[in-house]
Amino acid sequence: MKIIIVGASGTIGQAVAKELGKKHEIIRAGRNGMDVTVDITSMDSIKNMYEQVGKVDAVISATGGAHFASITELTPELNEIGIESKLKGQINLVLLGMNYVNDSGSFTLTTGIMMDDPIPLGASAAMANGGVKAFVKSASIEMPRGIRINSVSPNVLQESLGKYGEFFPGFEAVPASRVALAFKKSVEGAQTGQNYEVY
Ligand SMILES: NC(=O)c1ccc[n+]([C@@H]2O[C@H](COP(=O)([O-])OP(=O)(O)OC[C@H]3O[C@@H](n4cnc5c(N)ncnc54)[C@H](OP(=O)(O)O)[C@@H]3O)[C@@H](O)[C@H]2O)c1
Repeated sequence: MKIIIVGASGTIGQAVAKELGKKHEIIRAGRNGMDVTVDITSMDSIKNMYEQVGKVDAVISATGGAHFASITELTPELNEIGIESKLKGQINLVLLGMNYVNDSGSFTLTTGIMMDDPIPLGASAAMANGGVKAFVKSASIEMPRGIRINSVSPNVLQESLGKYGEFFPGFEAVPASRVALAFKKSVEGAQTGQNYEVY
């Protein structure tokens, strides 16, 4: 299969590229993408990416930013970061990419444990995660041409504990390699409308 991974240089993206690269052709995308550049907060940039890459069998989003702030410090402006990037950015990859995905292909987006198991400072990211999860479940029932759509909800990664560990006390971190398997299941399996929890 020919697979675009948006966020391929990230902690999750690298693990997904390593796992799926064993069997598939990987197009690595990101703002400084190795194969193609894309900024998911810009619709023009997403359109350009698809025009450059052409038809694919799977689109994976292993990206999406949100601002971490306490609910008393979260402003509408700061909340927009998560809306523009993690929520709308990922959804626009689907809406603008539909005609570039081959019959029976797939989209796989990324959510995260914080929507189910809240942490302080996490409301904006949780909002985006929940929106993506609901979009995936709903969109799956009317995707055309046998195209499937799922999301992956990782726990905090072992590889990210240096960066995020203090925000997730008592969480049992998971290795990126295990998260990558959920993306593999989404791409190579037959399920749709799922949010694979890697907790
Ligand atoms: N790490 C964790 O523990 C964890 C746990 C649960 C959920 N998640 C979620 O998983 C996703 C990826 O996390 P990560 O830790 O792997 O992130 P990361 O290491 O920071 O990597 C982010 C990746 O996304 C790309 N990127 C960032 N902004 C972009 C944009 N606007 N358009 C296109 N590409 C962009 C980056 O490349 P460029 O800089 O070149 O654009 C990079 O490849 C995020 O949604 C995160 O919330 C992470």
